Amino acid sequence: MTTITPIRTAIFGTGFMGRVHLEALRRVEHVEVAAIAGRNTVAARQLGSAFNVPRLSPEAVLSDRTIQAVHLCTPNALHFSQAKAALLAGKHVLCEKPLAISAAEALELVELASKRDLRNAVCHNLRCYPMVQQMRAMRDAGSLGEILVVQGAYSQDWLLYDTDWNWRVDSAAGGPSRCMADVGSHWFDIAEHLTGLRVTALCADLQTFHKIRKQPRGPVETFANKLASESDTIDTPVDTEDMGAVIFRMGQARGSMTASQVSAGRKNRLSIEIYGSKAGVAWDQERPDELWIGHRDSANCIIVKDPSLLKPAARAYADLPGGHSEGYDDTFKQLFRRFYASIADANAPGDYPQFTDGLRQLVILEAELASSRTRAWIDLPATENGN
Ligand SMILES: NC(=O)c1ccc[n+]([C@@H]2O[C@H](COP(=O)([O-])OP(=O)(O)OC[C@H]3O[C@@H](n4cnc5c(N)ncnc54)[C@H](O)[C@@H]3O)[C@@H](O)[C@H]2O)c1
Repeated sequence: MTTITPIRTAIFGTGFMGRVHLEALRRVEHVEVAAIAGRNTVAARQLGSAFNVPRLSPEAVLSDRTIQAVHLCTPNALHFSQAKAALLAGKHVLCEKPLAISAAEALELVELASKRDLRNAVCHNLRCYPMVQQMRAMRDAGSLGEILVVQGAYSQDWLLYDTDWNWRVDSAAGGPSRCMADVGSHWFDIAEHLTGLRVTALCADLQTFHKIRKQPRGPVETFANKLASESDTIDTPVDTEDMGAVIFRMGQARGSMTASQVSAGRKNRLSIEIYGSKAGVAWDQERPDELWIGHRDSANCIIVKDPSLLKPAARAYADLPGGHSEGYDDTFKQLFRRFYASIADANAPGDYPQFTDGLRQLVILEAELASSRTRAWIDLPATENGN
């Protein structure tokens, strides 16, 4: 039996994503989580000891030559400096979205990763649902015809009340855009990935319903503030949007989407509908194993994930047989598996979202912010490539 030396990696951040990445990495072949680096040393030690992973300082991770890659699961405003430091230290980098808080920062990271010849990924993991890949494979095969209309939404409710708080609300930690950066970026990543088209122009209307929020004086866990009984709060002005509506052009195709963190009852619902000259498809992240296929002249149908019935490109994203659901956690495993395969084999394709895709989302975000501010359509540069 040949023994394969695992690739050693480290995770920065021990919150919601830090744990999700750690658990998913445990299911990826030939990878060893060598360290956890968190600002909160107690949380890092607790998570590390539960999974038998040592806690190291970020500096110790970067100077450890046996660690080849890092995952950045920290607040958005830290991504640029942490990714830059990791690339300069010769590490491959998998960064949570958004890649940075400006297109200028993202471009610098794209160029640095390319110059250093290091693998780079942005965690637009929602692409990796089997049924999302099935839609893509159908479009590739021409089953949808020419894409005419793209519609959808990304809706959540966890920031509905003025008592709801998270670091994302504060532009100093999350960047100038909140809702559109946090969830809208996933939606546009999927929309471009699925259609193979690029947004060429857009008109956005962003809204902050709560211009003042009650910020707890103590720390707040992501998504957990709903349960807090904290009454010790500070009235804090808010400069990031609660929701946004965008109409857009993709060449000849037309589309619209909304993203919202104040939609009561919607927990985490990315929905996308793509209508082509031959057929339509619709997918809802809250029912991930189902795909609606619409026809003009014959009956519509809903297909259920069953690898043996999926197109080969989509089957590669389904590890379990039909009737066994694959969900959010599995999308990370699928993305990470491809990222580490590309580190192990320099000739492996980078078939996952890369820094260029992260840059692309920052370009779209900046256009949204400019459009909303000026109440005008904005044309987008057509030059960025992505996966
Ligand atoms: N891909 C997805 O589906 C998805 C989902 C949620 C969040 N995210 C992204 O993941 C990132 C983290 O979000 P989260 O929800 O896990 O936040 P979180 O608040 O739960 O966790 C953030 C972590 O970063 C740590 N941290 C803060 N400053 C640090 C520093 N200087 N060095 C090291 N660690 C530091 C905090 O202690 C905390 O452990 C964000 O960029 C967010 O956009 C992605």
